[in-house]
Amino acid sequence: MRIGILTSGGDAPGMNAAIRAATIVAVALGHEPVGIRNGYRGLISGELMPLDPAQVGDALRRGGTILQSARCPEFHEPEARRAARAVLAHAGIDGLIVIGGNGSLTGALHLSDPAEAGDWPVRVIGIPASIDNDIALTSLSIGVDTAMNTIVEACDKIADTASAHGRVFLVEVMGRDCGYLAMTSAIAAGADMVLSPEADRTEGELVDSVVDAVRAVRARGGSQRVMAITAEGIETPTARLKELVDARLASVTGQPQPDIETRVTVLGHVVRGGQPSAFDRLLGSRMGNVAVRSLVDGAHRQMVAWQPPVDAVAGVGERSSHDPYCHLMPLDVVLEATRQLLDGESPLARWRATIFDDLQDVFLL
Ligand code: F6P
Repeated sequence: MRIGILTSGGDAPGMNAAIRAATIVAVALGHEPVGIRNGYRGLISGELMPLDPAQVGDALRRGGTILQSARCPEFHEPEARRAARAVLAHAGIDGLIVIGGNGSLTGALHLSDPAEAGDWPVRVIGIPASIDNDIALTSLSIGVDTAMNTIVEACDKIADTASAHGRVFLVEVMGRDCGYLAMTSAIAAGADMVLSPEADRTEGELVDSVVDAVRAVRARGGSQRVMAITAEGIETPTARLKELVDARLASVTGQPQPDIETRVTVLGHVVRGGQPSAFDRLLGSRMGNVAVRSLVDGAHRQMVAWQPPVDAVAGVGERSSHDPYCHLMPLDVVLEATRQLLDGESPLARWRATIFDDLQDVFLL
């Protein structure tokens, strides 16, 4: 086979490990890996490059993606996909590995639609990679572990200066509409509060939560610093939340200014960069391995999933015969489950909401 490999959407640390593993395994099995630069945009315009094991050797140490990435909204149009298929046919690429998040996997589903396929058959397989961990039917996507470690490291540093001044810090983390990263890193960083979109709080309730956390921390003694992790997906921008919290704290004391200082740190794209953790290198490598071997076995329109939640696998997908921790899940089922997860409709969404609720009070102890 000629196996095309592309990375698409927001980059995630560990993508390079997946590219490297897919390249090496493809060559080891006697197939030819072909890199596609700049995601779907590069696929449409035919930006192909050869890939060989020597070239990808050290890539797994690096963040970002050696193939570059791009967001490509035009791929929603059949015309763009027709152009992409023509490139694949011209290059003789009959297998494609798409490494990316929700939007990228949706592109993979449309590209592999039998109704659009024409006369050049390409088998397509997806690898979930997104720091947001917002893709259903895989317990983790590539990049989540590194992002969480980056947030925790930053919070440890912020905690030092916050403690020195007894300040309140609102630390905003990425995650788009999903609060997974905010919640898990809040636990791991020992934060006093987490504000996530899943909890579905009004602006007033968000302010209440932070003010309650300030009161609880002050009441329990010890360190007077307060750390609240805010997910970027909550309705109220963090800068506005600070203003509202300041105003509330001032009104409580009856002073024009609160006697407690608040600060905002937006971690932004820092969370997406950096050397991948050992776990993300391993996850990327294992998924890259499974993706190639499954393509060669004949898999099509599937996503490689890492230990899917137990109740999700009943009757859906199958365990990989190449790695007992990986499953192959039909892409269409994954994307429908992802929609339900983000809309708060799926069992996993309900689990997450329950855990978010339960933890609010525990954080304050
Ligand atoms: O999906 C990954 C992600 O980093 C989100 O957490 C964030 O909302 C978004 O991408 C940022 O996208 P961009 O880099 O295009 O601004």
